[in-house]
Amino acid sequence: MPSDPTNPSSGLDAAAALLEWYAATGVDTPLAEAPVDRFEESAKAKAAAETRAERRPPPPQAGAGRPLPPATDFAPQRSPARPVVATGPTAQLPTESTVMQARAAAQSATTLDELRALIHGFDGCNLKLTAKNTVFGDGNPASKLMLIGEAPGRDEDIEGRPFVGRSGQLLDRMLNAIGYSRNHNAYIANVIYWRPPGNRDPSDVEVAICRPFILRQIELIDPALIVFLGAQPAKALLGGEAVKQGINKLRGRWCELEIGGKRFKALPTFHPAYLLRTPIKKREAWRDFLTAKLFLENGGTLPPA
Ligand code: URA
Repeated sequence: MPSDPTNPSSGLDAAAALLEWYAATGVDTPLAEAPVDRFEESAKAKAAAETRAERRPPPPQAGAGRPLPPATDFAPQRSPARPVVATGPTAQLPTESTVMQARAAAQSATTLDELRALIHGFDGCNLKLTAKNTVFGDGNPASKLMLIGEAPGRDEDIEGRPFVGRSGQLLDRMLNAIGYSRNHNAYIANVIYWRPPGNRDPSDVEVAICRPFILRQIELIDPALIVFLGAQPAKALLGGEAVKQGINKLRGRWCELEIGGKRFKALPTFHPAYLLRTPIKKREAWRDFLTAKLFLENGGTLPPA
């Protein structure tokens, strides 16, 4: 409904409705002080390129001497001015050295608390610029069962704990159904420690930067079994053949993750957010959770297939 200019609160209502709509479509993270009109930017860049093309001298005629282009054409071409809007720390392009820094920091942690503090203080991942919190992990660190998801979402970013939204509630119910819980005998973490804006997929570089930290976190927890929640954590940590496969192929298949010479047993299953959207898959996830329980209760021996 158009806002009524004679009623100041109707403008506020319209603004609130617009914000709600943005949040519902996933646009819930301000990146700069003012919006950037990318359509206008590309239209300007196109117009500038056309002007440059028009000013270029015609190609020399056959047999004619080569005319020198006007001196101005030697000047470097500037792209159209962009408004400078960011006021806080600006994003850096991560490099291989950022991954090496992450690796060195992760290796230097000898306890989980040290690792948590190092990740909190680590500024090499751009995702930290837009996240409200670092989401490290939750649960009993002495657990034999460790579950690993992909990245925090909106609720996790606000609370600073993994899997606290709707999919986390489903995960808690699934764990409870096999006699496990994060308060007692399970530990939960993600490959990525900061929420990607708008819940986009983390980039390969972001995964590469966070990877040494989650690998160290696994070493420090030292679980008997890792359950990967969805294909992304399995791909990010297993690499190799797993990278090419979808979760339907990966789930329920025993895998091994080697870290610093130690082999960890791992079992990929469906992500609870996928199960919320596709409840028919809960039956297979249930089978995976029962397999995990049997494995843990048989002292870490594989149950028959
Ligand atoms: N999805 C994830 O992969 N991790 C969370 O913490 C929440 C949702």
